[in-house]
Amino acid sequence: MSAKQKLRLAILASGSGSNLQSIIDQCQQGLLDAEICLVISNNPEAGALKRAALAGIETICINHREFDKREKFDQAVVATLEKVGAELVVLAGFMRIISTLFLQAFPQRIINIHPSLLPSFPGLHVQLKAIEYGAKFSGCTVHFVDTGVDTGPIIVQAVVPILHDDSEETLAARILEQEHIIYPQAIQWIAAGRVKIIDRQVKILESEPPAATLINPLPSNG
Ligand code: GAR
Repeated sequence: MSAKQKLRLAILASGSGSNLQSIIDQCQQGLLDAEICLVISNNPEAGALKRAALAGIETICINHREFDKREKFDQAVVATLEKVGAELVVLAGFMRIISTLFLQAFPQRIINIHPSLLPSFPGLHVQLKAIEYGAKFSGCTVHFVDTGVDTGPIIVQAVVPILHDDSEETLAARILEQEHIIYPQAIQWIAAGRVKIIDRQVKILESEPPAATLINPLPSNG
């Protein structure tokens, strides 16, 4: 019997890449039925590019500043993703809005991690916003990407209490610890074909479906 095919991940990151690192580590430990085929950054200085190179993963910088329109940048990204045969696009601190063109190229195959308990606090600087609002709990959310900003179907969340003396930095650090747990978990559920989207609810199936279903692990809506 042939070994189970690994899900081909492309990871898009703009910053330090600690989420990327957690996925690299779990792939290396054999904990994920997935492999990272490419890391793309829009930022030539991104720590994520260095982390990927250190792990021997192919990298490419597609600098958004070199494109006059979002769609043209996205076209270049999509062409690169298609060339490497990416099956799941993983946004890990990728600070660009995804255009419809990009979404249509990878329907229900783009996921994101966001450092708040969505639907509360979408957008930027959300750890500070949660503190200033006086929320008692924050956390992180892994979700499918749709046409809105941080609005897609939620796969998994982790809750993090907000402490009375938290700063933006201390809260962000505790949320990141949870991100590093739930993002690889969500990827593994998808790789194992256990994720089903019904309207906007995401169901995690109890056990793996028959092998035939695994060829296309993300069933279409409805
Ligand atoms: C993470 O906290 C991630 O949730 C957030 O950026 C950080 C990236 O950290 N993403 C967003 O805010 C997306 N809207 P990392 O580069 O160390 O993985």
